[in-house]
Amino acid sequence: MAKTKTKWICQECGYETIKYIGKCPDCGAWGTITEEIETDNLIPNSTITDNTEPACPINSVQLSQSIRFTTGLSEFDRTLGGGFVQGSIVLIAGDPGIGKSTILLQTSNSIAKNQKVLYVSAEESVSQVKLRAQRLNVDAPSLFVYSQSNFELIKQQIKEVQPDVLIIDSIQAVYTQNITSSPGSVSQIRECTNELMNIAKSQNITVIVVGHVTKDGTIAGPKVLEHMVDTVIYFEGDRYKSYRILRSIKNRFGNTSEVGIFEMCDNGLKEVLNPSELFLHEREKNITSGNIVIAAKEGIRPVLIELQALVGQTSYPSPRRVVNGIDYNRLLQILAVLEKRIGLNLSKLDVYVNVIGGIDIDEPAADLGIALAVATCARDVIVSPDTVIIGEVGLSGEIRNVSSIENRVKESEKLGFKKVIVPAASHLNQKDFNIEIIPVKRLMDAICACVHKEEALLTK
Ligand code: TYD
Ligand code: MG
Repeated sequence: MAKTKTKWICQECGYETIKYIGKCPDCGAWGTITEEIETDNLIPNSTITDNTEPACPINSVQLSQSIRFTTGLSEFDRTLGGGFVQGSIVLIAGDPGIGKSTILLQTSNSIAKNQKVLYVSAEESVSQVKLRAQRLNVDAPSLFVYSQSNFELIKQQIKEVQPDVLIIDSIQAVYTQNITSSPGSVSQIRECTNELMNIAKSQNITVIVVGHVTKDGTIAGPKVLEHMVDTVIYFEGDRYKSYRILRSIKNRFGNTSEVGIFEMCDNGLKEVLNPSELFLHEREKNITSGNIVIAAKEGIRPVLIELQALVGQTSYPSPRRVVNGIDYNRLLQILAVLEKRIGLNLSKLDVYVNVIGGIDIDEPAADLGIALAVATCARDVIVSPDTVIIGEVGLSGEIRNVSSIENRVKESEKLGFKKVIVPAASHLNQKDFNIEIIPVKRLMDAICACVHKEEALLTK
């Protein structure tokens, strides 16, 4: 008879102990340690694969020709570093409803033109998948769908169908009978992923696993899940806005600096090949004060984004600072610099800053844009709408250089802007660009450069 073993495992970090404790000594979380029972026949034979090759010198290893294959979506390929690598295991994580199942069904359809795909849905029935497939015009004959959450039955189907690509939607919903704990628990996720890894490596099947994220944005289940797979991709975006971003967090076969941008439409996800146009298309012609365009970066691509500030008399004992899309503390720092270095008194004024499109900006290159949006709105002056603002603001009011400045300026030029305010330290040569370059050293220079001199006299 199989022996059973009881373990207490932290559901947050995977820490194991032999008895119950209230607080996890490893991650410090309370009430996350739960009992999990394992039977000893669960150390799977599959961990010992029979196709092992003897050790050989690295320079004699032959790479097979078609090691990578396309997802059918160039933005997805870009995130993966040029498509899926055969026999690798990829984790796609994201909030519920963000579009994970949609993108995978679309991708399966393109892959199924050349290879056999098995799409295992542990959350939806086959007819629900079919309904979605109709909406997405997915009908490739070598795409097999299977609705099952029992891992043993899934393995049987893998044996029967012999797919080249296997999709598991989602890892938190599948369970193996070898473990009595519920689906989604640390042991279940670890065990199923381990088996999937063996399937991927031993049978050269590309495995794509969907993972849910928890409220705080981390992948539900243990960190080990991220360690076990070859590539981790986050699918993010605002559920109430149409754009979505695929971001690679870990990639054993490519770099992690690229992102893929999509728009959720009525018939699935569409690639956004020119993101700046998406973020600027709703821009008003008659710009009001406090509206600024900045050149941010998504992955390694420059993206022009509109930023708005609203500054007005406060009716509260302490003025309000509200941000949407930028870091709250970063705003406080910029406001402190505006007060100290420019003499702009904001102590009785509420400040709201909003990034249009629901996108999050977390790079210092947006500092100057934020500072100018607040300063110009406070004085009700308009920054010329054909100007793009780039630069980091230092604590003494100096403007510091930012990365990839040429690409940001080129993007501004491409989208028809006439002027770009850049840090003087970037040493850009006007001759290289067809857009007016305005280098600035200090915050005050930037204010003078984009509004009239007399309006720039903010000190009162
Ligand atoms: P889904 O792929 O089910 O999300 P996930 O698998 O990440 O939970 O996406 C569901 C959302 O996408 C749902 O709110 C409806 C929307 N959607 C569209 O807007 N257009 C479409 O063509 C499809 C299939 C879904
Ligand atoms: Mg889904």
